[in-house]
Amino acid sequence: MREKIRKYQNRIINSIVLLFLPLLLLLAVTVGGRFKIFGDITEEPTVQEKADQIVVGVSQLGSESGWRTANTESVQNAFTQKNGCFLIYHNARQKQENQLKAIRSFISQRVDYIVFSPVVETGWDTVLQEARKAGIPVILMDRQVDVEDESLYVTCVGSDFVEEGEKAGRWLESELIRRGDGGEPVNIVVLLGTEGSSARIGRTAGFASVAARHKNWNILEQEDAEFTSTKGKEVMRNFLRKYDDIDVVISQNDDMTFGAIEAIQESGRSVGVNGDIIIVSFDAVKSALEMVSEGIINVDIECNPNQGEYLLRVIDDLEAGLPVEKQYYVEENVFKKQNVTEELLRSRTY
Ligand code: AHR
Repeated sequence: MREKIRKYQNRIINSIVLLFLPLLLLLAVTVGGRFKIFGDITEEPTVQEKADQIVVGVSQLGSESGWRTANTESVQNAFTQKNGCFLIYHNARQKQENQLKAIRSFISQRVDYIVFSPVVETGWDTVLQEARKAGIPVILMDRQVDVEDESLYVTCVGSDFVEEGEKAGRWLESELIRRGDGGEPVNIVVLLGTEGSSARIGRTAGFASVAARHKNWNILEQEDAEFTSTKGKEVMRNFLRKYDDIDVVISQNDDMTFGAIEAIQESGRSVGVNGDIIIVSFDAVKSALEMVSEGIINVDIECNPNQGEYLLRVIDDLEAGLPVEKQYYVEENVFKKQNVTEELLRSRTY
């Protein structure tokens, strides 16, 4: 009888183990790896981990573009255990309210640093004051914030978006001269990125400052296409319906450019170096650079997503008590058919 009971108990234990085995395996993989990801937010680090490592809470604004994916990977590759860090990562899916919640959760978890890419520039004053009250330094990545008191964040690692916009304008100036611009009208449409974001604000202002020097440049319309391919196609389709004499498309990121090119080709018009419409894009992800080398995109103004290493260096300096600058700009280039080499395409990882 006792033997029978023992067998029965063993059977029950085995069933329980089998039932929870997948969950146990998942835990083993994530806990042993670099990140402890549960859904979109990572588990709170243990006291031991806190003592050994620098705990960094990262609030990424979303995953709208190829550029964003590369930016996320760069951060995840930098804040590793090997580099002395414990990363708590959160994806805000384009919503400022989600970023505010994530930052508040980082504050209540008492992380060592908060890093975030602000989806829009305004509306951060209160949460940054809360971080300051908790004694947690805040570092901006990619985009800037517009706050009353700039000492609410320590530093920003990102792009000079105004300069990027100016580069686009200066390239168009030289291209039109090369084509023998005799002052005839140049009709331009602009696909804008996320409303309120510094990428959109800076690029728009930079390009406008160059356009203002040319009386024959007509900006027919600028419309929000949210940095996504689907929206880019939709907005471009509308432009093509409204205007039959578009000469130039300024598209504030590669994803919108892919959509816009599809819309233009479907309308029977051609793009690029030998086409009807000049395409100026931003980001320079690999698939866009391939289109530059094929002459489909005329020029791509680089926006460098590899910011993880810079952020890590800034945190190392802060840990060592060294002073840091208020703004670090990542290195960025301008890509035309002539300088998109085989070597560049081979080495581009995103
Ligand atoms: O803030 C950088 C911009 O945001 C990139 O140009 C774009 O692709 C991204 O979504």
